[in-house]
Amino acid sequence: MYRDMTLFATKAVEPEKTELNPTLTGLQLIALGIGAIIGAGIFTLTGVAAATHAGPAVIYSFIFAALGCAFAGLCYSEFSTMIPVAGSAYTYSYATLGEIVAWIIGWALVLEYAVGAATVSVSWAETLTSILTSFGIHLPHSLIASPFDPTPGKVNLLAVASLCLVTAILIRGIKESATFNSLIVALKVAVVVFFIGIGYFFINYKNYHPFLPPNTGTFGSFGWSGVLAGAGQIFFAYIGFDAVSTAAQEARNPKRDMPIGILGSLAICTVLYILYAAVLTGIVNYKDLNVAAPLAVAVDQMKGLPWIAFLMKLGSLCGLTSVMLVFLYGQSRVFYSMSKDGLLPKLFSELHSRFHTPWKSNLVLLLFVSVGSAFTPIARLGSLTSIGTLFAFVVVCIGIVIMRKKRPDLPRPFRTPWVPALPIFGVLINVGLMAGLGAVTWSAFLIWMAIGLVIYFAYSRFTSHLQGASGSR
Ligand code: ALA
Repeated sequence: MYRDMTLFATKAVEPEKTELNPTLTGLQLIALGIGAIIGAGIFTLTGVAAATHAGPAVIYSFIFAALGCAFAGLCYSEFSTMIPVAGSAYTYSYATLGEIVAWIIGWALVLEYAVGAATVSVSWAETLTSILTSFGIHLPHSLIASPFDPTPGKVNLLAVASLCLVTAILIRGIKESATFNSLIVALKVAVVVFFIGIGYFFINYKNYHPFLPPNTGTFGSFGWSGVLAGAGQIFFAYIGFDAVSTAAQEARNPKRDMPIGILGSLAICTVLYILYAAVLTGIVNYKDLNVAAPLAVAVDQMKGLPWIAFLMKLGSLCGLTSVMLVFLYGQSRVFYSMSKDGLLPKLFSELHSRFHTPWKSNLVLLLFVSVGSAFTPIARLGSLTSIGTLFAFVVVCIGIVIMRKKRPDLPRPFRTPWVPALPIFGVLINVGLMAGLGAVTWSAFLIWMAIGLVIYFAYSRFTSHLQGASGSR
């Protein structure tokens, strides 16, 4: 018998025994975070946000979006030390807000991680195409673009190829993945630091005037409303630090290392992004930055250093690879938890006998994400990723306040400061960023959530272990 009350049944928060290998150190967790954060967003969106919304004051947009992320990041940190099991915001809401909310969050996280990986794979394909073109190799357009792109193709096979590569690495195992991840993260951070260091000498200070161009009369077109609109756009660049929380079960010392990984990676990327935006808008006038590859425009201004362009592209290719790696990793871990709870079929938690990785889940994901990346334009995928992520942030902020009331007794090795003020500000900022995402994105989001609810009421509710199903499916 199911009563309505059971929709809000919560799961015990004590950590479970895990079959996953606890091998990750604090530094590796920071690398995991940076690996997920620096990618398509910083390399492409900064220019567009400066040119159409904020001018050089896009720096303020970066600070504003970072605040929303930091508030959510602090809440994530408290949860991840209190409930150190795999699954991220999904697990936290199962412990606080009940099964139905947990399901909704798990379903929204698919937008963040799986759709996010699809977004980045399309950017990866664009970057590789550009590198190949500079060597005189031209791939047929019909095989590297979706049918709905401004210049339509048939299928984006290059994007699918990148996903196959990353899935193969993930199935091989987390320790190897972490080593590989740390390597490419070092490379992409080096490229960003290099751009900032060299670019500094090419800044023309006249480009900073006006720093905050006056509003043109339309909301979001320069002025302070433009700074806000810019923040909504570049929010995508920050997505990923929360993926660290999906690795809690594989961390050696989660109580100490989870906050280090989550907040450390966010802090490092915030500083890099602000410096990067300052250098970019200092080298090129913001009015000239409304292009697909703003970095290339800036590099063109660095006369006498033509090899930098190649290095930058190579760095971004590495950057994008690691974003996909962490996103697909995070998604498989969320599915792992949902399957262990009986909300998804058992195959999502079956581990490979030798590699101890959820390989079947990785393969199902590959299929699903490939369809998205092969046939959907990047802008659509990107804003869907943002709305799903912001929604999860909002729920995590609310969850911290509820948990402090419901279970004040639980040990909290990391405590979010100024509760409830800070989480409430987190909710407000993140809802504000969601509001700016436009009608099409909202419609797609609501349809996706409606599909999720149908699946829950038709299937998961009856197979949930918490609701008494046996788990022997
Ligand atoms: N933050 C990630 C990126 O910009 C999603 O690629």
